[in-house]
Formats: sequence, C-alpha cells, structure tokens
Amino acid sequence: MPKNNNFRLPSLKDAQIRTKETVKIEHNLFKLPEPTRNLGVGRKFFLRTYGCQANERDSETIAGILLEMGFTRTDIEEEADFILLNTCAVRKNAEDKVLGELGMLKKLKTKNPDLMFGLCGCMAQEEEIVQLLLKKYPQVDLIFGTHNIHRLPELLYNAMMTKEKTVEVYSKEGEVIENLPVKRFGKHKAWVNIMYGCDKFCTYCIVPYTRGKERSRLMNDILAEIQELKDTGYKEVTLLGQNVNAYGKDLDIENGFATLLEEVAKIGIPRIRFTTSHPWDFTDDMIDVIAKYDNVMPAIHLPVQSGNSDMLKIMGRRYTSEEYKSLYDRIIAKIPNCTFSTDIIVGFPNETDQQFQDTLDMVDYCKYDLAYTFIYSPREGTPAARMEDNVPMDVKSERLQRLNEKVGLYSNMNNQKYVGKVVRVLVDGLSKKNDQVYSGYSEENKLINFTGSQVQEGDIVKVLITDVKSWSLNGEVVE
Ligand code: SAH
Ligand code: SF4
Ligand code: F3S
Repeated sequence: MPKNNNFRLPSLKDAQIRTKETVKIEHNLFKLPEPTRNLGVGRKFFLRTYGCQANERDSETIAGILLEMGFTRTDIEEEADFILLNTCAVRKNAEDKVLGELGMLKKLKTKNPDLMFGLCGCMAQEEEIVQLLLKKYPQVDLIFGTHNIHRLPELLYNAMMTKEKTVEVYSKEGEVIENLPVKRFGKHKAWVNIMYGCDKFCTYCIVPYTRGKERSRLMNDILAEIQELKDTGYKEVTLLGQNVNAYGKDLDIENGFATLLEEVAKIGIPRIRFTTSHPWDFTDDMIDVIAKYDNVMPAIHLPVQSGNSDMLKIMGRRYTSEEYKSLYDRIIAKIPNCTFSTDIIVGFPNETDQQFQDTLDMVDYCKYDLAYTFIYSPREGTPAARMEDNVPMDVKSERLQRLNEKVGLYSNMNNQKYVGKVVRVLVDGLSKKNDQVYSGYSEENKLINFTGSQVQEGDIVKVLITDVKSWSLNGEVVE
C-alpha cells in the first residue's frame, strides 16, 4: 500500500471511545479555500446515496458544497467528471450493492481517464472496507468519512491536482458543524438533523462506530432552520437522529426531545415527523406533546428488533418485551389514530424457534402498519460479530418469510379501515406509475394515490379513500 501524506485510515477501536469532553459546536468552520472555489466550473458530479435519512441529509450537504465549487449535477453517470457514492454499512448486502456499483462503473474510466471516483459515508469508516478498496478497487481516487464532509473541497482538489489516491477518515466522537451549505432535494419536505451519532451500542450495530458519539445541535440553531424552512414554503420537516429521544441529554436539557418537539410545533410548520425514536427513553411527556399538537404527525417509527426479552437483552436494547408493549399501549391510549412502523431482525445468534415466535406474537400485539425486516448480518468490530452466527441461512430465510407474511396481513387489515374515510394528503406530485394519478402521504404516513383536478405539488388536500392495496391507498380529492 502506498504510504504518503494523503492517507488517514479509520480505526474501529478509536471509533468506540466515548469521553466526557464537551462537543465543539462550530458556527464558522466551513470555508471554501480560494484555489478550490472554481474547481467545478465546466465539470459535472454524479452523487448516489445509500442507507438511511442521515445519509440523505449528508448528501444534501455534499451537493451544496459541490454546487458552491461550481460543479453542476447530473443524473447520468457517463456524463460525470466526479462520481461519488455516499455509502451505508449497516448490513453486508448494503455494502455489496456499493462494491457491485464500483465494479460496474470502472469501465467509465477507460473512456474518460480524468474521471474521479469518490466513496464516502459509513463504509468509509470501516477498516476492512477501506483496506479492500485500496487493494481491489484501484478505480477509487478519494475516500472520506462521515466526520469530515467539510473537508471535501480540499480533499477533492488534492486528488485532482496530485492524481494520487486520497484517503482521509477520522474515527472520533465528532463535532457539530453548523455552517455547511445545503442543496435540499425536496421542495416541500425537508430533513432536519437534531443530533448526530449514537451511544446505544446495540450489540449488532455498526452505526455508533461510523457516526461518533451522540451530540445534539443547539435548540436555537434547529428552531432557526425550521423557521426558515417554513418561511420559504416548506410544509413538512422530519427531525433526524439515530435516537431522537436522547436529544439534549449532552446539553443537560431536561426532557430534551419533548421540549424541542413542542417548540418546533409552535413554529407552526404544517407537518412535523421525527425518526428514529428508540423505545428505551420514549417519555410520557413526548407522548403528550405528540397528542397535543395537530401538526405533529400521528405516525411513530418504534423499532422493536425482537419480541423476546432475552434476545433484546443480548442485543443490548435496554427494554423488555413487556416494557415495549406497555409503551405501545400508552401511546395508543393517548393517540388513538397513531400508526406504527418498526424494524425487526431475524436470525440473531442463538435465536430459537420459540424466541422467533415471540417476535411474531409482538407483531400480533402491535399490528404494525409497516415493518422493515432484516436478516441479521454480522458487522466486524461489534460484540455480536464475536458470537457464532449459528442460525442456518435457510432457517433465517424461512423466518423472514413468515414474518413478512404476517406484517403484510396487518398492513392490509389496517389499510381496510380507511375505506370511506377522508385523509389529509401532502401532494408529492404525479405518481411514478401513472401520470393521471397523484401521490402523497397522509398524516398517518400512508402512501395515497389519488385523482383530482387543480392539484398542485406541495398542497395539502383532502382525499376520500375508495379502495386499498397492501402498501397504499387509492382515493379521490373531495375539496
Ligand atoms: N437508530 C435506529 C436504527 C438505525 S439502523 C434505531 O435504533 O432504531 C436501522 C435498522 O437496521 C435497525 O433498526 C436494525 O433493525 C437494522 N440493523 C442494524 N444493524 C443490523 C445488523 N447487523 N443486521 C441486520 N439488521 C441490522
Ligand atoms: Fe444502532 Fe442501536 Fe444506535 Fe440504533 S440505537 S443506531 S440500532 S446502536
Ligand atoms: Fe447506514 Fe450509516 Fe445510516 S450505516 S443506516 S448510512 S448511519
């Protein structure tokens, strides 16, 4: 491996260190150094995003930086001078997709030798992956991580000028950088980070290693951003964090997330969502705020992972199956129209048939509207990866299938209840499948396809539901 000044590699060991040091909140850190200012003039970038909303939002920052450097964006790989993949490391299949894409894109370099390839995001934070990229993927020119997006101008400039591979990844707790540019991809819906990182260290999960420690943005910075979004016509914000309920703990704000959510609601933007809320510190105050304000949407993503308390303990989730059910009951009691989605892992090491049955029972109990279901994937460096991955693949697949069937059943059943009812829909635009039909989401986060006249993107319209599909509802505008 070449050893030069262009290398700073990730370390999973360093990434798990958590200190008591206060997080730096940087309001002036980002600037475009003079020589990088016009680097993109006459050049195009192609940016593809994998993974969760945190990555989507990071990509908006990356696009903002590249546009400031004079680049224009293209959706066609062949046209690009800089191809950047913002990657996800949460499961092996997420990584395989990226590696496959790198293989496919390689040939573009023979046509355009000046083409630059970059890889950033959570895969860049993984030791093994960076080693693999260096050994087997010589087409990658630039690798940077989740902590140094603000360094993109210098790093890209360096890679382009020296024509040497540039790798800069920091494995640290991280700071909060406030003055980064942003090119929002949505016109009516916006992502708003309220905190970064994760300290939960669920035993299967790589995120605390790739994203640093839990650190909150200042409430005033968040509120100012949302006020501006409202003033510029945005209708919906989604507050983002790996665990939004931990908001403010590091700033010693009492009841942080409930307080923040209430302040956001008072701004009066029409719709507020948030993700992800970890069941562990979901407080009754939060439930009260969601119930009190009409602009906080009655749709909660509450990842359960497993319905068995022993499994949850080994997963490091910090709640039992009974505590989860009790939380569910308390939410439903105060917000009867609330819909629920969840995440579930099947085939965690040593998961027995009975333990899996408890997960099915949990689905029966909560009757989720939607569940993202995954086969357990060992992640290098996590405690679970040191356990034997001993549930055979055919058993894992069979469990996943049984689980998905049950989830589909409840989704359909819940959807049936909407027939003949009127829901309020924020119009996303014409449906992807049919240009006579509009689509958008209801307050309960149901995908609605509907007909109507004089409908505009960004409107909130009332739709009468006429029939249902498993994963969407059909209807017509009534006013
Ligand atoms: N912070 C969120 C989850 C982010 S990761 C939360 O705690 O709710 C999204 C989902 O991916 C997780 O909820 C989990 O279901 C799944 N996941 C994470 N690591 C995984 C692994 N190693 N194998 C399979 N699924 C995993
Ligand atoms: Fe991963 Fe757990 Fe943190 Fe969610 S709360 S990101 S599952 S470690
Ligand atoms: Fe993936 Fe990183 Fe998000 S691992 S799920 S992109 S935080």
